[in-house]
Amino acid sequence: MKDDTKIVHVGRANAKRHNVVNTPVYRASTIVFEDTQQMREAMDGAVGDRKKVMFYGRKGSPTSWTLEEAMTELEEGFDTVLAPSGLGAITTALMAFLRTGDHLLMVDSVYEPTRHFCNGMLAKFGIKTTYYDPNIGEGILKLITPTTRVVFVESPGSHSFEIQDIPAIADAVHSFSDQNIVIIADNTWGTPIFHKPLKLGADISINACTKYIVGHSDVMLGSITAAKEHFPVLYDGRQQLGVAVSPDDAYLATRGLRTLGVRLNQHQENTMKVATWFSERPEVEKVMYPALPSDPNHRLWKRDFSGATGLFGIVFKQTSREAVSAMLNSVSCFSLGYSWGGYESLICPSVVSHIRTASTWRYAEPGIRLHIGLEDPEDLIADLEIALKSFNTFL
Ligand SMILES: Cc1ncc(COP(=O)(O)O)c(C=O)c1O
Repeated sequence: MKDDTKIVHVGRANAKRHNVVNTPVYRASTIVFEDTQQMREAMDGAVGDRKKVMFYGRKGSPTSWTLEEAMTELEEGFDTVLAPSGLGAITTALMAFLRTGDHLLMVDSVYEPTRHFCNGMLAKFGIKTTYYDPNIGEGILKLITPTTRVVFVESPGSHSFEIQDIPAIADAVHSFSDQNIVIIADNTWGTPIFHKPLKLGADISINACTKYIVGHSDVMLGSITAAKEHFPVLYDGRQQLGVAVSPDDAYLATRGLRTLGVRLNQHQENTMKVATWFSERPEVEKVMYPALPSDPNHRLWKRDFSGATGLFGIVFKQTSREAVSAMLNSVSCFSLGYSWGGYESLICPSVVSHIRTASTWRYAEPGIRLHIGLEDPEDLIADLEIALKSFNTFL
């Protein structure tokens, strides 16, 4: 079955109840039982291996299982658990697989709050993080130590857009088979429609569903999909941490998911137009969008992704804080915002050098980051023309 068909059908078996199309919102903390036998059966199902029986609200309901099943199918994994945000999904996965004394290899281009968690909470619990260059590929071999337990990839980085060679990293990491190192991927940019990290050799794939899965900028949610051998540790860790999601949020994310395929195609088409326009502007040093043939990682992107989404970055030949502020203050089709993945276009300043420790950022700062929404790209380009005039007057 193709992804566009899966997206419509996956997880809908639950919706047979009362013949409604979408699985309803099951609001529940307490579950009540007919008799002690039913109580015991539910308890047996809820403890240990995961079985989808209603036992207690935190363990989920048909509303959350619908989304989990859909994400599992699309990621081509074994099973999925949800978390209350994308960052919550990342921290839950890291906590599940790491223990005191372990070593974590973390990509240097990682989302900044993930870095903060490694340098904060993980360091506090005695877990050492080494950052590595996103272009490292099989060179990761040299950084693996006897205590390395997790390698974290985020491809592409959400401000600098390097595509990582996940197959080369996975080959290198899995050659240390006796160490059972787990590769965790943040798949938020590609989504399981355009990128399937588990098929490329990763063990865990995480989505900040907040972005494209929800698609309407009104829900925080994360998902963690695991390969079979890693699911029990992930599930147990999530239960120990008490991570649970609101059924309303799971419902809205599933509703967003049903239109993900068509939205992404439009994001991609619009973004190609705007990114290509930027690449011809004299002010621009570099457009960071892997789908452009001029992008240094275009070959890797073409090999490992089946499409590109709407987030990309610009570095200027010459820039200043005042010029970028003038640009941002003169847009009207774009809103100023740090997020992405919704139907609306967003723009924000981008400063990367202060969050690099293993690789250098040699471009003038600040740059900008854009998320291209579902508006007509001609209107967006006209808006950016005016904004660049303001940028130029402040240089
Ligand atoms: C690449 C990436 N991963 C994870 C997250 C975290 O997601 P959330 O905001 O849902 O916690 C973000 C948020 O911006 C992100 O950009």
